[in-house]
Amino acid sequence: MMDTMTAPKVATQDFLTVADLSAEELVRVLDFADHLKGLRKDGREHHLLKGKSIAMYFEKPSNRTRVSFEVGIFDLGAHPVMLRKDEVNLGVRETISDTARTLSRYVDAIMIRTFAQRDVNELAHHASVPVINGLTDEHHPCQILADLQTARERFGDLKGRKLCFIGDGNNIAHSLMEGCALMGMHFSIACPQSHNPLPDIVENARKIGERTGAEIQVTDDIITGVKGAAVVYTDVWTSMGQEQESIERQRVFEGFQVNADVMQAAADAIVLHCLPAHRGEEITADVFEAHAQSIFDQAENRMHAQKAIMAALLVR
Ligand code: CP
Ligand code: NVA
Repeated sequence: MMDTMTAPKVATQDFLTVADLSAEELVRVLDFADHLKGLRKDGREHHLLKGKSIAMYFEKPSNRTRVSFEVGIFDLGAHPVMLRKDEVNLGVRETISDTARTLSRYVDAIMIRTFAQRDVNELAHHASVPVINGLTDEHHPCQILADLQTARERFGDLKGRKLCFIGDGNNIAHSLMEGCALMGMHFSIACPQSHNPLPDIVENARKIGERTGAEIQVTDDIITGVKGAAVVYTDVWTSMGQEQESIERQRVFEGFQVNADVMQAAADAIVLHCLPAHRGEEITADVFEAHAQSIFDQAENRMHAQKAIMAALLVR
């Protein structure tokens, strides 16, 4: 039986950053993700994208993104087309524009994981079908939908609550900052000054926060960061593509670990981690296991949240 709750309407054609959505659209997408999660748990068919095809292209490794998209596309009654780097070789074998225009003749949407955000922007610019960012060096918007869905499951409305991200001012930090700002949730990043998030993204998040009431804080002091936080979030010190900096990064981030002392300062916060996790680096094994329930709920929610954004972009 099909369900009657309709897919949320969003103004954007593409989902390249969290800030492509308005605050109201983001809430509607999260509501729809909750709805789809319920349908799946009840075993109720929801073929909202029946007959459509969605291409997935990866230039970096993936477990969660790859599997949650493929299963989610199948759940929605659509067909996933998996493309490998050695097949497409974006921007090398042919121009990004030619790849975009060709794929737009075959498929109804393109999900891409690559390095440069500008390549994803260029793909989206030339594609006539929606493009979804499955992670770049700068952003990981699909992850943040799942993170916010998980936080809402624990706390309900996120307005006025606080999330503290500990670690590198990276793709996750950028997208989380935008997502928290849109939700009216205070965001603090505790990171070494040498690895602060990009100033443009901080400025934009602060602008959003002026409308929603969210405060955006950048600090190098963990105790300041976690004070009053409902959620403590961390990610790897060395992101995909930075492997040659790994030893230096272990030195720089040494004091930025989510461990028992940090969790004591954070009082009764939950811990989220986008995964993969490196125990003994950004998080200790004991803290990880103590919060495994929320961390794997978060991983599961990737699927529900991505189904919601695909439906929002494709059911017009
Ligand atoms: N969190 C996340 O995106 O995981 P994968 O790299 O395994 O897709
Ligand atoms: N910052 C990490 C996120 C992995 C999901 C990376 O880019 O490798």
